[in-house]
Amino acid sequence: MDGNGRWAQQRGLERPEGHIAGVEAVRRALKAAAAEGVEYLTLYTFSTENWGRPKAEVDGIMELFCKSVVAETPELKAQGVRAKIMGDRSALSEKVNHYIDRIESETAEGDRITLIFAMNYSSRHEITESFKDMARRIAEGQLSPEEIDAETISRNLYSSDYPDPDLIIRTGGEYRLSNFLLWQAAYSELYFTPTLWPDFDKDSFREALDSYARRQRRYGLVETK
Ligand code: IPE
Ligand code: MG
Repeated sequence: MDGNGRWAQQRGLERPEGHIAGVEAVRRALKAAAAEGVEYLTLYTFSTENWGRPKAEVDGIMELFCKSVVAETPELKAQGVRAKIMGDRSALSEKVNHYIDRIESETAEGDRITLIFAMNYSSRHEITESFKDMARRIAEGQLSPEEIDAETISRNLYSSDYPDPDLIIRTGGEYRLSNFLLWQAAYSELYFTPTLWPDFDKDSFREALDSYARRQRRYGLVETK
């Protein structure tokens, strides 16, 4: 979800206004995804690198998350949404952790779509932690190096309960993954659009899915007729 700040600046607004508009775009994207039969929607909400932004902006994003949890939970439940958070929760405030627990527990029964917020997420950190964990288990004799395969590593990531993404959409005109799901994206289709996140709507989502539908996923194999 990139482009909130620029969206605000273009309108002569402060950056936080862009994040507020971004929440509206989340609501639309979720609705569109559920309507299209998407089963997992992961939103890169806050990266580990985002801590380096001005404190007021960081605090604003965290506050917006907490407020949105309160405001949106009834609707999420009504829509059959199961909300989950993925990332290093240890650096998030007690308050944010409280709201994470709240949204996860209150929506636990949702069976239509899983909405995953990547919060304080960094793919390299996730992979590093999983290596440490495996090294520890090897040292303790619970795991042998020969047992480690791609499956073992996948099971050791925050995303262990979710399938790899079929499609990764990046808004805001940047052509990079910025430390997002690097391991999981091995065979993901990538879609980049200049549309700023607050402008990303139902039609934009449809366009991304249409582009995905035209791709041929070969996974390193040759075309089969
Ligand atoms: C995305 O928009 C915000 C987050 C998810 C933290 P940005 O704040 O990065 O917006 P630009 O790139 O400055 O326009
Ligand atoms: Mg940005």
